[in-house]
Amino acid sequence: MRAWLMDGYEGVEKLRLGEVPEPQPGPEQVLLRVKFAALNPADAFLARKMYPANPSLPHILGRDGVGDVIAVGSGVESIRVGVTVGILRCEVGVEQWGTLAEKVVVPAKSVTRIPTGWSDEEMAGAPLVFLTAWQALTQWLNPPAPPSAGSVLLVTGASGGVGVASVLLGKSMNLTVVALSRSAEKRAKLKQLGADFVFDPMENKLLEAVMAALGPRKVDLVVDSVGGALLPQVVTVLGYGGRISVVGRSGGMVPKFNTATLFFRRNRIGGVSVGDFTAQEAHAAWEQIVGRLDALGQRPQVDTIVPFEEVKMGFERLGHGPMGKVLVRVAD
Ligand SMILES: NC(=O)c1ccc[n+]([C@@H]2O[C@H](COP(=O)([O-])OP(=O)(O)OC[C@H]3O[C@@H](n4cnc5c(N)ncnc54)[C@H](OP(=O)(O)O)[C@@H]3O)[C@@H](O)[C@H]2O)c1
Repeated sequence: MRAWLMDGYEGVEKLRLGEVPEPQPGPEQVLLRVKFAALNPADAFLARKMYPANPSLPHILGRDGVGDVIAVGSGVESIRVGVTVGILRCEVGVEQWGTLAEKVVVPAKSVTRIPTGWSDEEMAGAPLVFLTAWQALTQWLNPPAPPSAGSVLLVTGASGGVGVASVLLGKSMNLTVVALSRSAEKRAKLKQLGADFVFDPMENKLLEAVMAALGPRKVDLVVDSVGGALLPQVVTVLGYGGRISVVGRSGGMVPKFNTATLFFRRNRIGGVSVGDFTAQEAHAAWEQIVGRLDALGQRPQVDTIVPFEEVKMGFERLGHGPMGKVLVRVAD
């Protein structure tokens, strides 16, 4: 089969389109003919050895996707050949060969049918980012649960995969959503998706503008996928007991940070790791996500679809900040 092969850790620029033997499904696994794969920053991090994974080489990246089941391994009873499924977060594209290939083997417990009314494209890029956003929004209660209605949610990198998912899920939880994006065009789109307030994170008086918009209210929860110089700034708009779910670091290292900003208001910062979901937890969260999107009348956002031969162009687009997901059309 044709696949984008990673021979070393020199970055996605060095991926090569080559031929490898078709994988075979083992017990409790299914073989998919990939229709669409989706790109994630984690692919680019893994390709530079900046991700906690150690796959054997050549490796095939690609954690998300949609495909037709063309074979099932022993013990698989819940899925039959011929159905189209999406992949919920698992080791595909991490320690095992991923979806930037014509075929991929996936654990049967990690596939799910396309939700009614969704296109293959909408499904293909949704699971990883929506599950991440779900964890970021619900992780502060035990057992995990949405914040109380009316809470204020601030989302950095709101136009990205995790950002859009956080905005949509935040609205499904009746939160007041403040969304940050550096692009005026994307801010307008975020408003259309339901964000109550949108701001440019590069604006000089960002904090004053956020506080003026919120009036007496303060931010209860931040979903932060940017980090960098923005993180210390968003700490200052947190209210008493406000929390930050740290998802990513698109903006690089945090330059300086005074921990004193945390203790007077008992603020808490906590990491998010979508890899912590078991298959069962991922299915339970996914069911909530689909139900909430359907109730809102919203769908996952697709930014761009590139042909299979143009995967590197897709990664370039991802690097420049998409509005939603970048997909790869592997086969129709
Ligand atoms: N912890 C986990 O389990 C987990 C899971 C999934 C993803 N992640 C991480 O979360 C981060 C976001 O993932 P994603 O899929 O949403 O990525 P994405 O689709 O590339 O979106 C990231 C967004 O952040 C903004 N951004 C990028 N560089 C920036 C910078 N230098 N300064 C300010 N804003 C910047 C851009 O928005 P604008 O251009 O509109 O400003 C961009 O659309 C990545 O670091 C990813 O690795 C972590």
